[in-house]
Parts: sequence; structure tokens; C-alpha cells
Amino acid sequence: MKILVTGTEGYIGTVLAPLLMADGHEVTGLDTGYYRDGWLYSPLRQPYVTPRLLNKDLRDTQPADVEGFDAVVHLAELSNDPLGANKPEVTYQINHQGSVRLARMAKAAGVSRFVYASSCSVYGLGVGDWLDEQSPTNPQTAYAKCKVMVEGDLRPMADSSFCVTFLRNATAYGASPRMRFDIVINDLCGLAWTQKRIAMTSDGSPWRPVVHVEDICRAIRLTLRAPQSAVNVECFNVGSSEENYRVRELAETVASVFPGCAVSTGSSAGDNRSYRVRFDKIRKHLPEFQTQWSARKGAEQLRELFTRIEMSPDTFAFRAFTRLKQLRYLSQTGQIDAEFRWGGPAGAT
Ligand SMILES: NC(=O)c1ccc[n+]([C@@H]2O[C@H](COP(=O)([O-])OP(=O)(O)OC[C@H]3O[C@@H](n4cnc5c(N)ncnc54)[C@H](O)[C@@H]3O)[C@@H](O)[C@H]2O)c1
Repeated sequence: MKILVTGTEGYIGTVLAPLLMADGHEVTGLDTGYYRDGWLYSPLRQPYVTPRLLNKDLRDTQPADVEGFDAVVHLAELSNDPLGANKPEVTYQINHQGSVRLARMAKAAGVSRFVYASSCSVYGLGVGDWLDEQSPTNPQTAYAKCKVMVEGDLRPMADSSFCVTFLRNATAYGASPRMRFDIVINDLCGLAWTQKRIAMTSDGSPWRPVVHVEDICRAIRLTLRAPQSAVNVECFNVGSSEENYRVRELAETVASVFPGCAVSTGSSAGDNRSYRVRFDKIRKHLPEFQTQWSARKGAEQLRELFTRIEMSPDTFAFRAFTRLKQLRYLSQTGQIDAEFRWGGPAGAT
């Protein structure tokens, strides 16, 4: 297939593009490159292969950009709650309007598949109850509200010639060259490695479903291959029902993998997002889908990686590995404007 993958320069996209290329697909990336400054490591086994790249903002995509593709996998958005809260109006512009516009252009251009990276955060406040795809959505943040709006706007666009699938990913973890240390397990592993101490201010009681970045990529790959009848206008939670943990449990798991790491918890309730998610539906529709990772294996993977690259505290703290820090830096230094478009004041270098 000829596949346009947006967000190929991000955490998931950097793992996904080579996987799809290794399957024999012709992949083109589209990304504006906000986090290009951060490259944690080069994979050991093979030189990293990069897809052809359209270096542009999602909001400036033109019909010609999506012509000739069989499928679009759409990842390019402001990718978490804090980013959305920082500039909600820009989040709506990119994540909602930009995504819907891309899907409209893809449909008009005759692209037959559209895979959208949604998120389990659409469920919002679950107070620990088990949630599945039938559960009502209850998004709490601009980021999660956009995910719900995009799903809602794309659903009526789907038909027999435009197959649309929503993958509601759990919170990702695991190694990616374009690393993120602002997601829970990666952050805990970085703390365990650099400080030998995980000090939580909260009691760590909220539930979180987590999934390895490679398992997300496998779900995308299988969705692209699946018969239309199995995936058209369907949404799937992506993860595994066994991989719901309290944040405290995640911290303890990570600490047990990193020798000499201590954990302490605070007393505040902290984060009010708490949900446990069931992941049975994806297995019914995509029988080959089976997650291959667990939180413990993921922590072990990161311990080995940090050892190999001799990761320093400065690297862990580097702005480009924390999405909000990097966007703030680009904004404060005039490299992106108030709408997160590249280009500073006229005459600046
Ligand atoms: N990582 C997770 O835990 C997780 C969980 C659920 C859903 N998702 C979704 O998966 C997708 C990818 O997540 P990720 O972790 O790889 O995020 P990421 O921030 O690492 O990557 C997003 C990429 O999109 C690009 N991008 C952002 N805005 C753009 C714009 N206006 N124009 C062009 N490119 C733009 C960025 O430059 C970046 O390379 C996102 O939609 C995210 O919401 C991620």
C-alpha cells in the first residue's frame, strides 16, 4: 500500500514508519517537526530508515498532498493533556479542525482507509470503573474533547469506499528514538535511573491503562490489513485488560527493575483522571492482535537502553523529550508563533 503517515517524526511515528516500510509498504511522512531536536538513540539492529517526508503543518495540507495514497494513518496532533491545556485554541485548530480537514481531503482524493490515533482519555473520569467502547465518553480536557469531536465528525464520512477506524490507545510506554519522558512509565524509569528515587506527591491511586509503543504500531498495521467489514466505522481500545495499573503499582514495578530505587507516595488524591479499560473488542475484530509487552518488560527495556546509551540526567531533562517544555522553548525563543507555526519576527535569524 501507499500510506501517508502524519506525525512520523514523533514518538509513535518514529517506530511505526520503519515497521510499515519493512512490511513492504511505501510510506510518506507528514510532520512539522516540533520535537526534531530530540533523538535519544539509534536502534541497534539496523540503520534507522526514514520515510520520504512532507515537512509541513497539518493545517496547511493541500489536496495534492493526499493524492495517490491507499491509506492515511493520522498521528500528528498536540499529543497530551498538558499541551492541550497550554493553548486550548491552538489544540482545537490542530487536533480537531486540522484532523477533520485532512480526513475530508483524503476522502475526496479517493484514499480508501483512514486510521485515526484516538485515546483512552476520551473516557475521562471513570472513577476506577471498567470501561469499554460502549461506555459513554466523558472527556475532561481540550485534548480529549478534540479526540471525541474528531471521532464524531469522521464517523458520518465513512462508507464502503472510505473505511475509517478509531484506535483509542492506552497511555504508551517504551523505547522510541524520538523519546517522550512526559508519559508515565517512561518518566518513572527516567527518575529511577537518574535519581534512584521516585517521590510521588500524590497517593498514586488512579488507574491507568498502559500499552507499549510497539503494540500500538502492531494494532495500526493489523487495522490496515484487516477486511473492511472488521474495522470500518469501528473504534477499538488498544492495549490489554491485564495492563491496567494504579500509578503507585507502576512506580513499584519500575523501582523493582532499577536496582536501588526507592519509592515514596504522598497523601494528596492528585490527578483526578482514573479509569480501567477493557480491551476485548480489538481481539474479536483483529484476532491476530495480541500485546507482546507488559509494564515490567517495558521498564526492563528502558533500563537496558539507558545503560547502553549511558543516559545522563541532562539528557533525561532535555526539553525535546518533554512535549510541553519543547513547545514552550520554541515559543519563548520566537521560533514558533502564537499559533505554533514556524517563523519568528521578521528579520530574525
Ligand atoms: N503516546 C501516547 O501515550 C498516546 C496515547 C494515546 C493516543 N496518542 C495519540 O497518538 C498520536 C501520536 O502520539 P505521539 O506520542 O507520537 O506524539 P508526539 O508528540 O511524539 O508526536 C506527534 C507528532 O506530530 C507532529 N505535529 C504536531 N502538530 C502538528 C502539526 N500542526 N502539523 C504537522 N505535524 C504536527 C509533531 O511534530 C510530532 O512529531 C497523537 O495523536 C496522540 O494523541 C498517543
